[in-house]
Amino acid sequence: MDNQQNSQDTRILRLIQAANQLIEGNFRIRIPDQPEDEIGQLGKALQLLALNLENRYQEIQKLNQLTSAINSGLLLEEVLEHIYEDFRNFIPYDRIGFSLLENQRTILRAHWARAEYTPLKLAKEYTCEMSGSSLETILQSGLPRIINDLQDYLAAKPSSESTRLMVEEGVRSSLTCPLIANGIPIGFMFFSSCRENTYAAAHAEIYMQIAGQLSVIVEKGHLVSILARQKKQLEQQYSEVQRLNNLQNTFLGIAAHDLRNPIASIQNIAELLAMPAIQLTDLERADFIHDIHETAQHMGMLLNDLLDVTSIESGKVTLDPIYYPMRKLLEDAVRRNQFLAEPKNTRIILDTIPEGTACIDIPRMRQVLDNLLSNAVKYSPPGSTVIVRAMPQDTAWRVEVQDQGPGISPVERDRLFKDFSRLSAQPTGGERSTGLGLSITRRVIEAHQGTIGVDSIPGSGSIFWFEIPSILPQDTP
Ligand SMILES: Nc1ncnc2c1ncn2[C@@H]1O[C@H](COP(=O)(O)OP(=O)(O)OP(=O)(O)O)[C@@H](O)[C@H]1O
Ligand SMILES: [Mg+2]
Repeated sequence: MDNQQNSQDTRILRLIQAANQLIEGNFRIRIPDQPEDEIGQLGKALQLLALNLENRYQEIQKLNQLTSAINSGLLLEEVLEHIYEDFRNFIPYDRIGFSLLENQRTILRAHWARAEYTPLKLAKEYTCEMSGSSLETILQSGLPRIINDLQDYLAAKPSSESTRLMVEEGVRSSLTCPLIANGIPIGFMFFSSCRENTYAAAHAEIYMQIAGQLSVIVEKGHLVSILARQKKQLEQQYSEVQRLNNLQNTFLGIAAHDLRNPIASIQNIAELLAMPAIQLTDLERADFIHDIHETAQHMGMLLNDLLDVTSIESGKVTLDPIYYPMRKLLEDAVRRNQFLAEPKNTRIILDTIPEGTACIDIPRMRQVLDNLLSNAVKYSPPGSTVIVRAMPQDTAWRVEVQDQGPGISPVERDRLFKDFSRLSAQPTGGERSTGLGLSITRRVIEAHQGTIGVDSIPGSGSIFWFEIPSILPQDTP
């Protein structure tokens, strides 16, 4: 009897020890098989409990690993990619979609989707109204919804465009999960499978176990993405401001340098003219006044050029393009520049120009042609010939100004269209040169969606050319 009492005590003691181990979190206990009495049944129940606890523990471990893997993504895109890779062990899918609520939760916009197949019909930026949508009830209940036969569902609800698109993609069952971060609905995660009857309550349960955490991670990724976008925009704006600032500083430097001499010379002449002691003939006086006039004119042109580049650069110049006959544009430009050419005995010849119009801003395009023609005259030896041509192409015009000047060496070609690039070619008739003409010309051509360039063999002249569209982009057939 005593022996039996002793053995029961030992068995109970063993069970108490096992229970204490469970309390301490050690679920890997082994209770030996026991006789089928009450203590034995208690032992069996404890063993079962230990097994269940161990399984639950493993499951929680795995889910924790999953959320920390997902959490390791910083930007929303990274978080979603992690979800796509890591959820596979828990929930089956061929596609995951992710949508966010917008406009005080009245609109749902698809932000991301990835599938085992392409193309996706319901893709990024797809939007739908929340009001009246079945998704509203999912948000209200906070619980996932399973549809295991989407074709049936569509037959019952033919007005659902999103379901139709999914069925067209080949999706047959779906698990739609709400994302509710810190008590506020933020969107949905859509798990979809190409097979019917893929989803069971167990999948929804798994989702629910980490729904809160997942929503917060996704929300965090979304905010980080917005911040990253804003940071990039700010950086771009900052570097643009820096660039304009640098340009302005360069211009100020150049303006100070290039304007100081002429101002000083105007001052000197003015002082001279004002001195009563100095007797000047009418001719000398007229010469001095002519010098003042020329110098002031040059300063005015330089200032205009500087203001021009600054306003083009800061985006303040908007073109006002109209369709204009190419031949008239070129005839006028040749006529305007004859007064520069004649004193040098240079001939400007206009090739036969075919009929047709170009879509241009007239004052700006005149500026371009004046620059190219004046350069051709300025840098070519006296008595040479400048030829102007225009060839219509498919939907563009190619205009060329050919001269017999010194040409452009390959080394200098890169600097040609940059600000203040006075190169080795010097004006051959004492003309002024500031090095801004071609940089303004390039900007105007680019504003016309065109391109500009030069073909030249050093020593044998240059052909400066540009190509501009002959029709407005919106009029393109
Ligand atoms: N047709 C040409 N042949 C040879 N060199 C040229 C020709 N056109 C321009 N260049 C070289 O390129 C440089 C830049 O030309 P750009 O028209 O920009 O300025 P610029 O003529 O010096 O001054 P401006 O601002 O008055 O036009 C010139 O200084 C010259 O050295
Ligand atoms: Mg020039």
